[in-house]
Order: sequence, then structure tokens, then C-alpha cells
Amino acid sequence: MKDRRPEFVRHFTPRTPREASDAIVRNFLLHAFPARITRAALGWRASGWLGTIALHLFLVLSLTGAVLLFHYIPSVERAYASVKDLEFIVSFGTWLRATHRVAAHLMVAVVVAHLVRVFLTGAYKKEGAPGAFRPLNWWIGIALLLLTFLLSFTGYLLPWDQLAYWAVTVGAQIAASAPLVGEALRELLLGGSSVGQPTLLRFYVLHCFLLPGLTAALVAWHMWRLRKDGGLAVTDRVADAAREGARVAPPAPGKTYTLMGSTPGATVQAHAPSLLLERESVTAIPAVVRRSLAVFCAVLAVCSLLGLLLPAPLEEPANPAVTPNPAKAPWYFLWLQELVSLLTFRVGGFVVDGAFLGGILLPGVLVGLLAAWPFLDRSPREAAGVWFHPSRRRQNRVFLALLLAAVALMLVGTFFRGPYWAWVWPWETAPPPPSWV
Ligand code: HEM
Repeated sequence: MKDRRPEFVRHFTPRTPREASDAIVRNFLLHAFPARITRAALGWRASGWLGTIALHLFLVLSLTGAVLLFHYIPSVERAYASVKDLEFIVSFGTWLRATHRVAAHLMVAVVVAHLVRVFLTGAYKKEGAPGAFRPLNWWIGIALLLLTFLLSFTGYLLPWDQLAYWAVTVGAQIAASAPLVGEALRELLLGGSSVGQPTLLRFYVLHCFLLPGLTAALVAWHMWRLRKDGGLAVTDRVADAAREGARVAPPAPGKTYTLMGSTPGATVQAHAPSLLLERESVTAIPAVVRRSLAVFCAVLAVCSLLGLLLPAPLEEPANPAVTPNPAKAPWYFLWLQELVSLLTFRVGGFVVDGAFLGGILLPGVLVGLLAAWPFLDRSPREAAGVWFHPSRRRQNRVFLALLLAAVALMLVGTFFRGPYWAWVWPWETAPPPPSWV
């Protein structure tokens, strides 16, 4: 009997593996998936599906951001009022704004967690299936990480309240400390020497159009590279085992192909890699489609719920004449702000510039090291896609120690810094201003 359901629904219930593969070939949206996926890659253990969660957070951000765009006005006179309108006049405006903000914070955290999992499973390795080159996807990932930070940071300014104004002022001061190009960089970022209308317009265009467009393009490339690299790194071991199985498969007993008895002989190799893969894998439809939809629903539900529970803050309107004390960067940059403060000190009459050391040099070195890591890692090929492989023990320890140090600095910046960046215990009142004030 002819199936009368719409075509896109029909594709989700294939009756044979052949139908499942055909659905992928015919459906544009499903083209992102391979025809088959190994059970190892499908499980939660291999990846925690963190990349997929990041992708769905980006979708939630794009959807909620598109609606916010109808109400927001990028002008210093009207931006704050338009956000106030969202909070008090627009139906569901408070929830929409809070959901967008929660998703933005979660995306930063999830993208970092995804990087950590890729590092700890050595899934960036250059040795892989024939034709694979995972370092390229690792570098695209690093670009995506920087874009995620930039997207979040540019969005910070848009409400045009005190928090926004001063966080961006602190960020611009750090950018200005770069040698030679620092001032030009600040000028480029702010459209002048201080935060004003040109800055708001630049951040608006970057946040709403350029950066999301670039991120979407890079994510598409990231996904395509995943296919070109033969799937997740954990799949390599299944494919290798299949190849190995084909090579060493023992002759099947009881059968001889002896050219009608004229020569001694056994069976031909009948253990093809595809046979083993068939056993170890399932068709992407419906397995991946179902999981991906489940992840999307869970991400949407968590963001919506947190959006209800955690309203987005809105402080006093931006006022260049009133500096909040302390002026703190967003949480994910607080470890840098803390480093800047720790590395600023006096040697005799000379002041060491912590803004350059902690804000530019150190993060630059860290990003450079991350980018070079696929070529510095000496672990064997079979270690790719394996959590905490013994051959990577030392590098994993250093990586986790650096990560913990950054988290500790973030906690210090969040909970233990008071006016003039002095150490204040949470139960203490702020100490008097230091003597140099
Ligand atoms: C907007 C940010 C990002 C998105 C949307 C994204 C998306 C994805 C997705 C969906 C996967 C498939 C596995 C999974 O679901 O976890 C994946 C794998 C991968 N990602 Fe990302 N990713 C992002 C950022 C990054 C970053 C920051 C890095 C590292 C610097 C990275 C490196 C990789 C690598 C190397 C793989 C292949 C992993 C493997 O073979 O096991 N990605 N990514």
C-alpha cells in the first residue's frame, strides 16, 4: 500500500538499511549524516554529545536572538530603553531575553567542555583513517572557540547598562596594551578612543550578523570535515579492527577451493571489513536523527526553564562618569583579569605591564600551543579516541592542571575581589581604599 505521509516524515521510518541510506541522499537536511554510524560513536561515552549540544545551543541562540532583533534599537539614546521595554512591555520579553542570556553562558561552558573532551580523547590526532586529517577540524574548533568568546563579549555591550559599558571598557584597555598595534586595535574595536555610539554600532553588527554568519559557516565546515575524517576518532579502532579482521581471518574449515583437486588450498578471504562494520554499526536514520532531536529538545527545555528561573540582570543605564568599583569582566574572562592584576607589579621605578603579559601574551601562547598540539603529541595511532590513554598521561595532567588553575582564578575573581581589586572574604565588608588612591 502506498505510504501517504509527507516525505520528510516517511524518511524517519525506513524499513531497510537501503531505505535509510536513500533517505539521506534525498533529504538536504539529512545530508549532514553519514549513511551508517558505528555504535561506539553513537554512545554517550565517546563524546558526551557535547559538540551536538553546542550546536543546538547555537540554534536556540539564533532563534531567540532573531526575535530580540525585532525590538532592540542600536543607539546609545534608545538601546537601554528598548531593553527595558523587552522586560516590561513585550509579551514574554523577560523570558526571551533571559533564555538568550542563559544559552549564551551555557554555550561558552559547553564549547570549552567539548574542547576538553576532544583533548582528553586525543581526537585531534593527525594519524587516522586513510584520507583523514583531524588537525584541520581541531583548528576549525579553535576558531569556533574564539568566535564563541567574541559572540558572547559583543552581546555584553548591547543592553547599554553600567555592567555592559565597564566590562567592554576593561576589555578594550587590555587590547590596547598589545605592543605596536595596541592603540590601533582599540580604535578598530571601539571606533574611537572610548566606548560610544560607534562602538555600540560595531558590536551590534558583529554580534547580530557577522559573527553568527561566520560561526554558522565554520560549524558547517566542522561537520563536513567530520565526515571526511571518517567519523569520530573512536570509529578508527572499529575500522582498523575490521581491516585487521579481514587480513587475519582464518580460512573457513570444511571448504576447499582446489581447482578441482589439482592444487591444495583453502577458502578465499571472506571476512570483508564492511561485514564487520555492518555488525558494529547502525543506519544513521533513525538512530542519529532521534538522538539529535532528543538533544535539541533537552537543550531547549533546559534553557527555557533556566530562563524562567534566572532573569537577565539590567543595571543602571551606562554612565561614563561613574566607574563601578570593581569593574569586572564577564566570568569566562575573569581568569585573564585576575592574571592581569597578579602580573602587574613594580620593580624599583619600573612597572611591569600585567595587561600585556596576562591579557595578550599568555593567552596568545596558550592558543598557539593548542594549535600546534596535534604535531607535538607523540601518542600512538591507536590512542586516538581513547579517554585518558596511558601514553598521554603526562600531557593530560599538565592540561588539567592549567584548566584547574584557570577555574580557580575565575572563582577568585568572582567571589574574592572587592573594590580596587583587593582580596575580600565573602563574609567581610570591603576594606578602606589603598594608600595610592
Ligand atoms: C561552536 C562550537 C562547536 C560546535 C558546534 C562543534 C560541533 C561538533 C560536533 C557536533 C561534533 C561531533 C561530536 C560531538 O557531538 O561531540 C564535533 C567533533 C569535533 N570537534 Fe567540535 N564543535 C565546536 C567547537 C570545537 C572546538 C572548540 C574544538 C577544539 C578546539 C573542536 C574540535 C572537534 C574535533 C577535533 C572533533 C572530532 C572529534 C572526534 O573525532 O572524536 N570543536 N564538534
